[in-house]
Amino acid sequence: MTKRALITGISGQDGAYLSKLLLDKGYTVYGGHRQSASGEFWRLTELGIFDRIEMVPFELLEPTNITRVLQKVRPTEVYHLAAQSFVGASFEQPIYTADVNALGTLRILEAIRSVDRSIRFYQASTSEMFGLIQAAAQAETTPFHPRSPYGVAKLFAHWATINYREAYGLHASCGILFNHESPLRGREFVTRKITRGLVDVHLGRREVLALGNLKAARDWGFAGDYVDAMWRMLQRPAGDDFVVATGHTHTVEQFLEAAAARLGFPIAWQGEGVDQVGVNAQTGRVVVRVDPAFFRPSEVDTLTGDARKAQELLGWTPTTTFQGLVEMMIDADRARATRTPTGD
Ligand code: NAP
Ligand code: GDD
Repeated sequence: MTKRALITGISGQDGAYLSKLLLDKGYTVYGGHRQSASGEFWRLTELGIFDRIEMVPFELLEPTNITRVLQKVRPTEVYHLAAQSFVGASFEQPIYTADVNALGTLRILEAIRSVDRSIRFYQASTSEMFGLIQAAAQAETTPFHPRSPYGVAKLFAHWATINYREAYGLHASCGILFNHESPLRGREFVTRKITRGLVDVHLGRREVLALGNLKAARDWGFAGDYVDAMWRMLQRPAGDDFVVATGHTHTVEQFLEAAAARLGFPIAWQGEGVDQVGVNAQTGRVVVRVDPAFFRPSEVDTLTGDARKAQELLGWTPTTTFQGLVEMMIDADRARATRTPTGD
């Protein structure tokens, strides 16, 4: 029987890579998308798969819509990726973020409970739940300490998923994914902001790139690798929770240095704190500066994942290095910039 996957958040980064993976495996893919004036599916178009996806209007705030979608699509697997996913915005929109990310997940779980309990469910949990880290490397057993309304809402969704597994026997899994990036990453996230921004500076399209906390450190992997772990979780005999990460951590500064190196120039750092600047060491021009507007009221300073459980039980390992990821993103943004006047 053909497997039928419903992916919520089909227009996002992970929705695109997961769709490609599942289509290649022979799945029928239903893409949940919210109604918007722009109808942006540029990621699916870039991967050449837009025409192969059955689009379904889907809104996390509307429980009746969620139930109808499940009744209509009759999925065998639901990959719940939709979310207000930008941590920075969650400080300005905490209630909306909780409604979408926390209650939105609960709405899907309730709909599965009443429509068909055999549906396998994937919850997009996050390393942001570790926040103020309680162990040098964070594993499934590490205590959580979220530092943003986003992280708090995701922690609710995480425990709701575990609760529905325990209470109603759902095949429900949480992937505690660490930051994963790609050429399809949204431009508001720091990696893509850097690759896109530095390309623009390099081409003379803008003067300088303004960023927030340059000392923040993340365990950055490639999104194309991480969606494979999602699929592996739902093929297991029962639901479970898994950390997905590379185990390697770099700072925003190091990401900038690697991105600039790919563009052919070294960055020299001068000054401290809000006065710190990054200078193109070949030209002497300031290419990076700090803008406190991008600081967060409470920050996640550093994250490093311990993905040994995923390696042992899912047979999953990342294939892309930090260096490879930065180069892939710079090359893609440079190619886009030369294709169109605005570089979109
Ligand atoms: P993304 O690119 O921001 O995509 C988010 C998706 O959610 C978009 O398709 C968006 O639709 C949709 N969405 C937002 N609000 C919605 C609503 N009210 N109803 C229905 N759909 C809605 O995120 P991503 O990077 O692919 O991440 C996928 C998931 O993994 C998210 O839940 C994120 O929180 C989680 N996660 C991501 C990472 C990471 O590093 N990328 C790490 C851990 C966990 P529009 O296009 O209409 O806005
Ligand atoms: N976005 C952004 N913009 N972040 C900046 C900037 C800037 O100008 N300057 C420094 N940073 C720092 C942030 O303060 C943060 O410490 C780090 O760079 C990463 O920020 P983001 O790329 O916005 O990602 P995130 O770690 O907050 O959240 C992402 O990863 C989570 C998993 O840990 C998102 O994809 C979440 O949805 C995901 O759950």
